[in-house]
Amino acid sequence: MRTHYCGEITEKLLDKTIQIVGWVHRRRDHGGVIFLDVRDRTGLVQVIAAPNQAAVFKLAETLRNEFVIQVKGTVRARPLGTVNADLATGAIEIDCLELILLNRADPLPFPIDDYHEVGEETRLHFRYLDLRRPEMQQRMILRANITRYLRRFLDEHGFLDIETPFLTKATPEGARDYLVPSRVKPGSFYALPQSPQQFKQLLMMAGFDRYYQIVRCFRDEDLRADRQPEFTQLDIETSFLVEEEIQQLMEEMISGLFSEVLKVNIPTPFLRMSYADAMRRFGSDKPDLRIPFELVEVGDLLQAVDFKVFAEPAKDPYGRVAALCIPKGADISRKEIDSYTQFVSQFGAKGLAYIKYNSDGLASPILKFIPESVVQQIIERTQAKVGDIIFFGADLTGIVNDALGALRVKIAHERGLVESAWRFLWVVDFPMFEKGEGRLSACHHPFTAPKIKSVEELSKDPLKILARAYDMVLNGTELGGGSIRINSSEMQMAVFNALNISEKEANQKFGHLLTALKLGCPPHGGIAFGVDRMAMLMTGSSSIRDVIAFPKTQTATCPLTDAPAPVDPLQLIELGLRIRQDKNEKPKEA
Ligand code: AMO
Ligand code: AMP
Repeated sequence: MRTHYCGEITEKLLDKTIQIVGWVHRRRDHGGVIFLDVRDRTGLVQVIAAPNQAAVFKLAETLRNEFVIQVKGTVRARPLGTVNADLATGAIEIDCLELILLNRADPLPFPIDDYHEVGEETRLHFRYLDLRRPEMQQRMILRANITRYLRRFLDEHGFLDIETPFLTKATPEGARDYLVPSRVKPGSFYALPQSPQQFKQLLMMAGFDRYYQIVRCFRDEDLRADRQPEFTQLDIETSFLVEEEIQQLMEEMISGLFSEVLKVNIPTPFLRMSYADAMRRFGSDKPDLRIPFELVEVGDLLQAVDFKVFAEPAKDPYGRVAALCIPKGADISRKEIDSYTQFVSQFGAKGLAYIKYNSDGLASPILKFIPESVVQQIIERTQAKVGDIIFFGADLTGIVNDALGALRVKIAHERGLVESAWRFLWVVDFPMFEKGEGRLSACHHPFTAPKIKSVEELSKDPLKILARAYDMVLNGTELGGGSIRINSSEMQMAVFNALNISEKEANQKFGHLLTALKLGCPPHGGIAFGVDRMAMLMTGSSSIRDVIAFPKTQTATCPLTDAPAPVDPLQLIELGLRIRQDKNEKPKEA
């Protein structure tokens, strides 16, 4: 039906007869001549229907926005003064010789030809229309360019694309599973994979050496702007490579990706920062290095002050007192400080002390509690200058890190203090375990190798053990995470035990893996990147939903198809399922 895409028609085709198809983006009637902007995924081109082509003109008069048409015409230069430099096709127009109406369109729920604020629910309900908008088309195209590059890079580096099952058994990545009931085995369920973690390790044991897959993962977790219940990973696993080799290869891939897709130069190697340093300096394991101020330790200066709020956490081995100096922040108002205090309270902070460094001296409600010499040392250590403000967090270390870490990012964005740059780093030396609800849980996942030599070391002080794990962080977002894996059945079982998983349960859930580890398992490790997050950052979008063609809402629903939805009672009978009207009803067998 066409010889060219709309966006391809430039001066190079002057005087040629071409054929295009597309949507009427806009129709303008100008004193007897009709201008049609015709749109396809490559852009817009202007078509002229003149009265001397009587049939064409008559049909053009009936066209409305979003009608689908076919145009045959001659490319000609636009008259002087009508060239549109903002448009790739802005120097030419098409003199229409033949016009065919391929389909009509009812008036749309929202316009495509003009920017128009539309609620997200409506956008998602009519997603196919939302996706027609040029900015959405650009995002989808850029996303396709990303995955094309990644595949090419990995193919060229000897990686094999191998698929793994969706209907499978649970693999723990810290979220709830989506379950699929089995018809042939009533009462049994498949779990949709939270990641292909176990399968990619089994592929290493099968000898495939370098694997990748661009694969959907499913996690039933609380949704945020950078999380979806189903999302895409670039999943990678390798054998016989150590951390440094994997990291180097991944840096080369990511740097090449930015060069190819965004034409920006990302120098390698990326900075490596230990988890402990990241938490100390930024209160976060995904520090945003574009922000030019960090947390500063002041606990040692405050242990002896007569101000319990500071002195107690300063003396507590699990406590921390840290300062955050905001350059030129002394103009932050009382009202804003109150709202920041409210903001940090969601992380458990009980207050937000501050000192303003005004030109006429220091101002703060806490000055009366702290000796002048100590205040002076705080000023020196934070390098505060006239015009700055220093905020303080004093509490359990975790609370201070979360509160000041998040405040740093919030204030930097609000006050325009975020540098425009791509700041990559590797965060390494994560702890192996963290304490949650009275027992240990794995910081990465339970297949990650601990940095210890023998199984016995596990029981000594598990919270002190580091993991052979690494995260790639970009501008405050975790882009990817991976690790070297445990490759001995004994160590794997010991880690399960440390995680309070009994031998029986471990064999039930992971028996296949434990056996495979005993049957010739190579040293192996890998990583997975969030492709949606990558596309979100690279397109400058504020939500992951803007780079997913058909995303779910914050409540994990799809307004387009109305999923999830009730099913036919017969289907439930077939599956051996009954819906409990009362969610709290105890199962009979309990
Ligand atoms: P992890 O759980 O860190 O590691 O996930 C890897 C990357 O996937 C992205 N991601 C998400 N993106 C959107 N929505 C979500 N709900 C979501 N959850 C995670 C992040 C994250 O960095 N099997 C391991 C990888 C490995 O060890 O090789 C894993 O899944 O960008
Ligand atoms: P208070 O003595 O509780 O009125 O607190 C005096 C100042 O210290 C106020 O500015 C509080 O916001 C602040 N503050 C109280 N608790 C903390 C805390 N845990 N961390 C930081 N500042 C605090």
